[in-house]
Amino acid sequence: MKILVVGNGAREHVIAETLKKSRHNPELVVYGNRLNPGMKDLSVDYMVGDIMDLDAIKAYAEKQKPDFALIGQDDPIANGTADVLEKIGIPSMAPKKSLARLESSKSFTRDLLKKYNIPGNPDFRIFRKDDLNVAEEIENYIVEDLEGEFVVKADGLCGGKGVKVVGDHLKDEKEGVAYAMDCLLDDGFVIVEEKFVGQEFSLMSFADGKSIVDMPVIQDHKRAYEGDKGPNTGGMGTYNYPGNLPFLTEEDLEDAHKITLEVMKALEIECGEYFKGIMYGGFIATKRGVKLIEYNARFGDPEAMNALPLLKTDFVDVCLAVIDGTLADLDVEFFNKATVCKYVVPEGYPDNPVKGEKVEIGDIPEGCLMYYAAVDKKDDGIYMSTSRAIALVGVADTIEEAEKIAQEGVEAISGKVFFRKDIGTKELIDLRIKMMEEIRG
Ligand code: GLY
Repeated sequence: MKILVVGNGAREHVIAETLKKSRHNPELVVYGNRLNPGMKDLSVDYMVGDIMDLDAIKAYAEKQKPDFALIGQDDPIANGTADVLEKIGIPSMAPKKSLARLESSKSFTRDLLKKYNIPGNPDFRIFRKDDLNVAEEIENYIVEDLEGEFVVKADGLCGGKGVKVVGDHLKDEKEGVAYAMDCLLDDGFVIVEEKFVGQEFSLMSFADGKSIVDMPVIQDHKRAYEGDKGPNTGGMGTYNYPGNLPFLTEEDLEDAHKITLEVMKALEIECGEYFKGIMYGGFIATKRGVKLIEYNARFGDPEAMNALPLLKTDFVDVCLAVIDGTLADLDVEFFNKATVCKYVVPEGYPDNPVKGEKVEIGDIPEGCLMYYAAVDKKDDGIYMSTSRAIALVGVADTIEEAEKIAQEGVEAISGKVFFRKDIGTKELIDLRIKMMEEIRG
């Protein structure tokens, strides 16, 4: 068996590692923007090229003739890589372009939930550039309907940077209107919606268009600095507990599951084809129950580094079941353990990162998993680019042990780097629990 992996980050590194563990003993071939040293070691062939170049990916796939492709990153998924590969007879563990609007168009997803009466949407409105008195309308909506608690979202893929929240990135309704007008100029429309207060969680599900299987529920940390301070990043680290997160109820998880199931069914009606791949719901538990922040149409990064090491079932069998539409017949199991993932990033990340700095990798503790992200391997060692560099993951029976392993792992990496010590610690998780207790009353 041969599998094509498209992408080159830590997420794709753990994907490749998990595929390689399969009883099918697959050969991996990789197409990515850069050479990931970990993926290089796991693959029989590696092509570096523009990940958005559909013709180049197609030509590489035609040459390699994989049994299927697993497309890891959001932009090649949104760009229609699965559609192009399907035309040459190669199925993908990733949705086609029309279905990938679940992630690539925030307005598509809000409208989908509304049209099919699926719970989880905030109060929201989509404003268009040629709406009458649009700036005034936006201000009225923010002040009167949303009572000043609002979020402004640009429509497309923007790594979370196109979302601005009052109290975090926007001071008041004036700044909100100004940002919304910027989005209108760029895209022709903008989404303004109610701000949720609560605890966010990531629930990723394997989906074959007919049924879904949830992965362990995970919490990400978007802010760069300890105590959830500083600018937003792609995600500084993640953790899960054996079973549920301690601030969520079983009902929260069931509600999130039901939303994803209903959304998958609505997608089939709306797009006329099955969603095959990963539906990753970014949810929030609020005092009014579980709400949907956004969907992604791929594994989360870092969430993949928590979920995939816990997958007990053969990953290739899961991919084949997703592709064949037989997921309901497969007993997909995960180890009931805790994981903590911490990212080592360049000093100054994300706004002003140092570039091209060397990192030394010391003694990684026994049992600590390590995945390469934005790094280059040269003759004399590993050099960082400007983004998240190396992910270290602890897996253990308890969160305390998993956190200790991940922390020792990040401390073994030296150079012009930083990481968040607080991810997965009791102190931070207790704050989450307290917040939810207060919210729920
Ligand atoms: N964990 C954030 C993301 O994958 O988009």
